[in-house]
Amino acid sequence: MQIIEKISNMQSYVKKNRLDDKSIGFVPTMGYFHEGHLSLMRIARQKCDILIVSIFVNPTQFGPNDDFDKYPRDFDRDKKLCERENVDAIFIPSAEEMYPKGFIAYVDMDGDMTEVLCGKYRSRHFRGVMTVVSKLFNIVQPDIAVFGRKDGQQLALIRRMVADLNFPIEIIGGRTIRENDGLAMSSRNKYLNSEQRKSASALYKSLLLAKTMIENGETDSFEIIAKMKDFISNSGDFEIQYIDIVDADTLKPVNTVQNKVMIALAVFLGETRLIDNIIV
Ligand code: PAF
Repeated sequence: MQIIEKISNMQSYVKKNRLDDKSIGFVPTMGYFHEGHLSLMRIARQKCDILIVSIFVNPTQFGPNDDFDKYPRDFDRDKKLCERENVDAIFIPSAEEMYPKGFIAYVDMDGDMTEVLCGKYRSRHFRGVMTVVSKLFNIVQPDIAVFGRKDGQQLALIRRMVADLNFPIEIIGGRTIRENDGLAMSSRNKYLNSEQRKSASALYKSLLLAKTMIENGETDSFEIIAKMKDFISNSGDFEIQYIDIVDADTLKPVNTVQNKVMIALAVFLGETRLIDNIIV
């Protein structure tokens, strides 16, 4: 397994494999792997000759009050896990390598899709994500790239960006991997103390509650969201940032549930921000 830090070396590696007619699968990450990341690697591994994983805690997607400095990092552990998943190369650039002095070219997305859900509360977050993902796509030139469905809005925006900017890349969404009690796996779960960790299972339960309501014929989003809010508030010390029901493809808010919807939420448990969603 190769560990590549420099963009020019990654480009040479990609060029060589392209000349050998190898297909390239790519999993962009911020490291500190859990089963969710590993499941994305397995999807790409199965579909392509070469599997490249990037590890880069991208400063431009964190706001001034976000957890950039304390975001968990453990490269030695990540490296071992990549070896186990038969990763061919890890791309681990420095912030200076990705954003050299004078960098000003950002990829910004306009309009409704960016202004709902997390986009409403984390201004500039998706600008940072789209910028780094575009840069990584240009450097790695993958045939396919795999992202987790837990970051539902991120996945929808990446699909949109790839279509709008004509990246010749197939985007695959990997299912959300959950702990036994339903909590979606996330590198940030590490921040939770034992009491918070226990109550965090209420998030997925509230999504299942919404699913059951819809399956039983409820179509009024306000009713569904109100029940979810009650359930979550009664299950622990949560500060709910949002619970929304949106069209699963366009992310437009939906008042009456008719077609495929994404039910998505973000909450704070203490300082820790957790997100989750399901498609119904
Ligand atoms: O989902 C993530 O881990 C990050 O947002 C990504 C896609 C690697 C971009 O930094």
